[in-house]
Amino acid sequence: MSTVLITGAARGLGLDFTKQYAAKGWRVLACARKPDGLKGIKGDIHHHALEVTDYKGVKALAKELSAEAIDVLICNAGVGGEAGRGTQTLGSFDPSAWRHTFEVNTFAPLMMAEAFVEHVARSKQRKLIAITSILGSLANNNGGRYAYRASKTALNMEWSCLAKDLEGKGVICVALHPGWVQTDMGGPTATLTIDQSVPSMVKVIEGLKPSDNGRYISYDGSGLPW
Ligand SMILES: NC(=O)c1ccc[n+]([C@@H]2O[C@H](COP(=O)([O-])OP(=O)(O)OC[C@H]3O[C@@H](n4cnc5c(N)ncnc54)[C@H](OP(=O)(O)O)[C@@H]3O)[C@@H](O)[C@H]2O)c1
Repeated sequence: MSTVLITGAARGLGLDFTKQYAAKGWRVLACARKPDGLKGIKGDIHHHALEVTDYKGVKALAKELSAEAIDVLICNAGVGGEAGRGTQTLGSFDPSAWRHTFEVNTFAPLMMAEAFVEHVARSKQRKLIAITSILGSLANNNGGRYAYRASKTALNMEWSCLAKDLEGKGVICVALHPGWVQTDMGGPTATLTIDQSVPSMVKVIEGLKPSDNGRYISYDGSGLPW
């Protein structure tokens, strides 16, 4: 039996990752602040309360799960960075909202990776996935969304570093962009439905090989420009 750990597992893309892996018969360690969204989903699902910026809580969970081998760890929890405070617009930056965006999108995934690296390294599949965004691409930048873009660019760099540092352990580190998807964050005008994004990402994750270590890719498996 394979095991996946998902952060932000009870809403949006994370909830659908939970549903998809549960339907495939995986053991799902569903980490979410509130379990409400997980109610009624059938399968081997284990809810763990987790605020990803509570780094003591992250370490405590890693200890609690020390007997687990985690085949796929998906750092999915994220924030858009707006918080209704005009924090993304030149002329009205709000450092406190920037810090929060970086805490959730950049620091927390790295703390998760650090806390759970051995759980992943001892598994069969050994895959460490960051849900990033094309908005973090320096090569594809058209301005705006400063905090969100910068947080995801930094996340990409972290995953590139992890790919180098964990190569010897055989861990495959990939930064994965879900597409622009109709969730609370993506909004109703996004080009993809959750059904068009998440099953495709699950398939792409399934097909990852050691040669994919350190790649920045889209939900359909195509490479993205850094
Ligand atoms: N949707 C898109 O178009 C799109 C595009 C590119 C990248 N992404 C990325 O995809 C990931 C998921 O986004 P989404 O579209 O599913 O957004 P969403 O619908 O807004 O869901 C965000 C998820 O992150 C969780 N979360 C936020 N802050 C957290 C915290 N401090 N601790 C624990 N969980 C926290 C939320 O949990 P609560 O329910 O507890 O708030 C929720 O499960 C994010 O990393 C996002 O940047 C999305």
